[in-house]
Amino acid sequence: KHLEKFVDELPDMPRIKAYRETEGMITPANLTIGMYQIKWKFHRDIPPTPVFAYGTSAKKASVPGPTIDAKAGLETYIRWENHLPQRHLFPLDYSLDIARPKYGGVPTVVHVHGGINEPESDGHSHGWFTSGFKEKGAMWSKRVYHYFNIQQPGNLWYHDHAMGLTRVNILAGLYGAYVIRDPILEEPLNLPSGHKYDRHLLISDRSFYRNGSIYFPSVGNNPHIHPQWQPEYFGDVIVVNGKAWPYLKVKRRKYRFRIVNSSNARFFRFALTAGLSFTQIGADSCYLEKPVKLQKILVAPSEQADVIIDFRKSPRKEVLLTNSAVYPFPSGDPVNSENSLVMKFVVDKKVHSQETSKIPQRNLIPTHRLKQEDAAQTRIITMFEYESAIGEPTHLLFNGLTFDSPATETPKAGTTELWHIINLTQDNHPLHVHLGAFQVISEQKLRDPDKLKACLEKSYSPEKCRVWNYVIGKPSAPSANEAGWKNVYKMKPAHITSFLTRFLNLNSEPYPFNVSADPGYAYHCHILDHEDNEMMRPLKILP
Ligand code: C2O
Ligand code: CU
Repeated sequence: KHLEKFVDELPDMPRIKAYRETEGMITPANLTIGMYQIKWKFHRDIPPTPVFAYGTSAKKASVPGPTIDAKAGLETYIRWENHLPQRHLFPLDYSLDIARPKYGGVPTVVHVHGGINEPESDGHSHGWFTSGFKEKGAMWSKRVYHYFNIQQPGNLWYHDHAMGLTRVNILAGLYGAYVIRDPILEEPLNLPSGHKYDRHLLISDRSFYRNGSIYFPSVGNNPHIHPQWQPEYFGDVIVVNGKAWPYLKVKRRKYRFRIVNSSNARFFRFALTAGLSFTQIGADSCYLEKPVKLQKILVAPSEQADVIIDFRKSPRKEVLLTNSAVYPFPSGDPVNSENSLVMKFVVDKKVHSQETSKIPQRNLIPTHRLKQEDAAQTRIITMFEYESAIGEPTHLLFNGLTFDSPATETPKAGTTELWHIINLTQDNHPLHVHLGAFQVISEQKLRDPDKLKACLEKSYSPEKCRVWNYVIGKPSAPSANEAGWKNVYKMKPAHITSFLTRFLNLNSEPYPFNVSADPGYAYHCHILDHEDNEMMRPLKILP
């Protein structure tokens, strides 16, 4: 039976200030955020669903978790507490490299995605802990994480990152938004602001059983190799801020929506009905240099799009936010009557006369452009998929290496590097780099990807396999809305994608922490099912 759409109102998640103001003095906040198993109402007609949720208490916990509101330059301390039960909500797969507590419990560790943070507080996958810190992973470092918030204003999000469990822990509800605001830079922009007109949209797909629990497959595609693991999780119900296909009543004015794709594997190609368009002002964790007007925006898992929608021009009372991305992307099934719809805006009749916000025509926040000649190091990194005799993927790796093989990407702090990513699979993989934001310079097609793969599989050497001989056609530049700072980028199949990355604060200042400390960082595919098996590598920054 299909669920009725647009019956629940879009929630605004609870907000937590990540700084303290007392008598005009601003001091760091000391927060405690717990993880709890609670029941969550995803839809009027779905019975309460068991979930794992972040919150300052079990009562206040929500899916997604509270929005953490930080100020640029002001530090935040968060004690992340695990109050989860002995057993996970979902079937797990012990054929993967997975956190294995001896005494049960659900291993968790929190990563602030897009944050420029010290390694000890970055949420290393082996830094997990169970309820009451009873058991800890080999790379566990401290109970209270320290966030510096020393970066440009923008949108981050936080989510679980435990080894081999990221896909199930996020699916269970362990994710939320994190914003860094900088009034000095942002106020002059005069963008739609305030809780009513500046909203988050955290968008995921889920499937539900009749009793309300979230569906997660219990048998893998390759059950003899991976009893449970499947290469991609897709759900037919689209959930925004914890509600299935919600609606939002809007005034006839401009709104800002900070969109996060919090899905495991689904890409969204968003569009609006009634002839409305998006003006994108920011991408992952940073503003764009200039606003970009778009009819459609393709957002991969964990990518972010900060957009303005102007409802003043709507000829209709109802505007739908729709999705047209095939799944898996880009060669999967077309969307259907369920997953092609995201949410509905119900537009007020009268024009909102008090509106003063504007869409800036020109510069938002300048982007410091990295230069190719400044690259101290060039790296070639290859993505490929290993398959079983029945042609099903068994695991996905970078350079043929697993996460626990010693780090091969070891940039020096303060330097710029040029990375070429070769994708020899059929899928688009959203690559995410911890710590270092990057700027994409080009994408170029490859011929005979299978031949190149066969050579690399024999012995991994991009030089011996002469990867540059496989490049064809002209390199193309990224689209305008993806040409600024990114921390996730869609790596097209049979393409080589090149970007410049700099391991330095965005303000060109040295890090206020030891960036080379253990346990270091990581880069990985943000399709969570791929990340868990084992499309993730360590990233170690040298002093
Ligand atoms: Cu959003 Cu390493 O993750
Ligand atoms: Cu992937």
